[in-house]
Amino acid sequence: MSLEGQSILVTGASRGIGRAIAQSLAESGALIGVHYCHQLEAARETLNSLPNHQPHFLLQGDLSEPDTCQRLIEHTLEQAGRINALVNNAGIYRPVSFHEPDADRWRSEWQHLFQTNFFSAVDLSYWACQAMRSRSGGGKILHIASRAGFRGEAGYSHYAASKAALINFTRSMAVELAQDNIQTFCIAPGWVETDMAEEGLRAYGERIRTEVPLGRVASPNDVANVARFLLSPESDYLSGVTIDVNGGSYFH
Ligand SMILES: NC(=O)c1ccc[n+]([C@@H]2O[C@H](COP(=O)([O-])OP(=O)(O)OC[C@H]3O[C@@H](n4cnc5c(N)ncnc54)[C@H](OP(=O)(O)O)[C@@H]3O)[C@@H](O)[C@H]2O)c1
Repeated sequence: MSLEGQSILVTGASRGIGRAIAQSLAESGALIGVHYCHQLEAARETLNSLPNHQPHFLLQGDLSEPDTCQRLIEHTLEQAGRINALVNNAGIYRPVSFHEPDADRWRSEWQHLFQTNFFSAVDLSYWACQAMRSRSGGGKILHIASRAGFRGEAGYSHYAASKAALINFTRSMAVELAQDNIQTFCIAPGWVETDMAEEGLRAYGERIRTEVPLGRVASPNDVANVARFLLSPESDYLSGVTIDVNGGSYFH
């Protein structure tokens, strides 16, 4: 699955799933923009782990701030001259409860999480599409959603809703952007062994594993392997689809 000649921006590539995706795409020959927010050292580790036959580069940006997105795409174009694919992977996962007594906090949690997990993907997609149309004759956009986007999640209703929005957005994009030779995809992982899942797996790991027919939690590479397929020429007749990477734990 060669990705030679492809310039790909991966958000949230300092750690976890984003790092594994960056590594997998780079091993297939792509030039990677390694985006991070707070963890420069971790992002450098990702960068240094990539095969060095391409001038991979770092990009910093806080996706909870709306102005970040245009700048990240411009930075990618300055560094690589084009963008052939975008992976909207960065995200946050933190609880908010209907029992929250402070209504302002409830609302600001929803707004912050939606900005970070959904609106940033919307705006990055917008700016990437302009560049794909004018410089590359098309491209591919992949969103990392979640199993929660299908089944919901008590205590994390804003997170689940942001992922459902990404799944649906993928479909509208596929139809609207086909004329521009832009394909869109989504991956919906169940639990994956990363920093984000650490607390949940520590508290409920045994129960979680028994709920997965394949008997284990996903590794970041399980997700990265599917991402590499979706961004490769092998997926050229797919668009608008969401692929579950959940060990058979949920069907819809
Ligand atoms: N782990 C799971 O069980 C699981 C399951 C389903 C879906 N997912 C989804 O998979 C994606 C990656 O998750 P992960 O488990 O790899 O998470 P992670 O280990 O917590 O890493 C999160 C990544 O997102 C970046 N990030 C966090 N806040 C940001 C912000 N405000 N602006 C820009 N970047 C920000 C982080 O950058 P810094 O390191 O620089 O802060 C980091 O690179 C997320 O969208 C998540 O919702 C994860």
